[in-house]
Amino acid sequence: MGLPTPYYQNDQVTLYHGNSLELLAEYADQLTAEAIVTDPPYGEISLAWDVWPDGWPGLAAGAAASMWCFGSMRMFLKHFDDFRGWRLSQDIIWQKATGTGPVADRFRRVHEYALHWYRGKWREIYKDPQWEPNPVSKLKVGTVSRSGPDKAPHFSGMGASTYLYDGTRLVHSVIPAKSLRGKALHPTEKPREILAPLIRYSCPPGRVVLDPFAGSGSTLLVAAALGRRAIGIERDERYAEIAARRLSTASR
Ligand SMILES: C[S@@+](CC[C@H](N)C(=O)[O-])C[C@H]1O[C@@H](n2cnc3c(N)ncnc32)[C@H](O)[C@@H]1O
Repeated sequence: MGLPTPYYQNDQVTLYHGNSLELLAEYADQLTAEAIVTDPPYGEISLAWDVWPDGWPGLAAGAAASMWCFGSMRMFLKHFDDFRGWRLSQDIIWQKATGTGPVADRFRRVHEYALHWYRGKWREIYKDPQWEPNPVSKLKVGTVSRSGPDKAPHFSGMGASTYLYDGTRLVHSVIPAKSLRGKALHPTEKPREILAPLIRYSCPPGRVVLDPFAGSGSTLLVAAALGRRAIGIERDERYAEIAARRLSTASR
């Protein structure tokens, strides 16, 4: 049987309104992607939709071999067993400007994690390490220098232990990005600045990013803007509607 009629579709993005546990189980052969980039319910706030969908990482494993998953340390520790079959490659920290949470008896929480998981052989996983202008190096652009561990593959022709400095460095694993706060279309909307490097890293242009917890469609919108295709699933029709509106007008 074919997939249900999309809630929204354009030439790059397909959005389904439904339960991703059911759709991933039933249409495993059709819901496939180069990478999953998703922000599941952490089960930490008192909103009706914020319930951890038991077992979803196992079902997601049928859809892709590479996955970025947002979450808190508490969430990953609590549900670690659900990630059986996946291997952890790295984590990045989304550093927020002001943070969230009313509690005053701990450090103010101004970050969330995104963990990158993969299955199979690491060398077969698509990855495009991200580079950015280096604001701190004292080296002059064009200088021949001894290679650092993150430099050698990026620069060519200078021999095994030297490189030609081009003014860039690998993007750091702590990535600052402002939360949407008052402008958010979803209580946990993820900003473009944190989604874009994860999508670029894990999915080549023209290939598919899957978000089984699409919310207001942020991942789908950013993926499309970066020339990727995207498939989203969202159970709450209010948010599916917002995502469809954003996608049809290509607006934030
Ligand atoms: C953390 S939010 C995602 C927010 C999104 N990143 C954004 O920027 O708008 C998780 C979303 O997953 C949806 N959800 C929860 N359980 C689901 C399920 N079993 N299938 C599909 N969607 C689900 C919720 O309705 C919620 O909108």
